[in-house]
Amino acid sequence: MRHLLTLKDLSPLEIEEILATGRELKERYRRGIREPLYPGYVMGMIFEKQSLRTRVSFEAGMTHLGGSAIFLAEEVGFGKREPICDFARVLGEMVDLVMIRAKHHEDVVEFAHWSPIPVINGLTDFCHPCQALADIFTMRELLGDTQGRKLAWVGDANNVALSLAFICGKLGIEMSLAVPKEYQFSDETLQLIAENQPGWKLRVTQDPVEAVTGADVVYTDVWVSMGQEEEKAKREKAFAPYQVNAALMAHCPQAYFMHCLPARRGLEVTDEVMQGKQSVIVQEAGNRMHAQKGAIVWLLRQR
Ligand code: CP
Ligand code: NVA
Repeated sequence: MRHLLTLKDLSPLEIEEILATGRELKERYRRGIREPLYPGYVMGMIFEKQSLRTRVSFEAGMTHLGGSAIFLAEEVGFGKREPICDFARVLGEMVDLVMIRAKHHEDVVEFAHWSPIPVINGLTDFCHPCQALADIFTMRELLGDTQGRKLAWVGDANNVALSLAFICGKLGIEMSLAVPKEYQFSDETLQLIAENQPGWKLRVTQDPVEAVTGADVVYTDVWVSMGQEEEKAKREKAFAPYQVNAALMAHCPQAYFMHCLPARRGLEVTDEVMQGKQSVIVQEAGNRMHAQKGAIVWLLRQR
């Protein structure tokens, strides 16, 4: 049995299998075919943080596959009402796979340790693997082969950036990161990235223009992630020179603009860029569902 906790744990071939299955299912979905591959299968979805895309994409995806999903919010008391070892084992008696959006990545790792069924990380403070799968899925739709393509990240070295670093490393996509010095990945995280794919190098700079020059995709995310609200004022000041706006995008007229959403227009990105010709944010969000359907099928096949 396999889990999907971080993309670091998957081989390039496994990632390709997930993306290919997602592509195939999307193609069929477009033709009106929603094959019930897993009738009666149930996904438990635990949310410790807010969500639009993750919740709806998983629930709709499970429904397309002939199954269903149960939304487990605050009232189930994840990590509070009973030990995670009991929570995980009991849930495993009743559902077929679990998706967790948690405050602390270690809680998801502990859950997976005890879980008799596959566990999917639907975002933690550490990483967001489902987002990065959907992002590469989208890049492939737009660019064809992604080998040697370049993704420029501008903003905070956060959970989404880390998952993109793992997947870009595995799939031979170049990645440059423009982040203020004090918000860069820690040495420990840089070490993890280096171990992920020997020979692949993440380019780190503090200069957004340097990062986006020659890029195929420019990507940003919020400056204040969920759980960092107390740092809002400090972060908004530090990240102000890292806004993705028309002046920055003018350095890479060929590039697509991506954002995992939700976005704070006027902060990390302007309304003009979000609505502009280079923006592919809606296609990207929609692909959460298709890429994740690939991941669900892949996980259920591994049991
Ligand atoms: N990108 C993303 O995970 O969106 P939600 O927080 O709405 O799920
Ligand atoms: N970095 C953001 C991503 C939201 C999808 C957060 O963790 O809040």
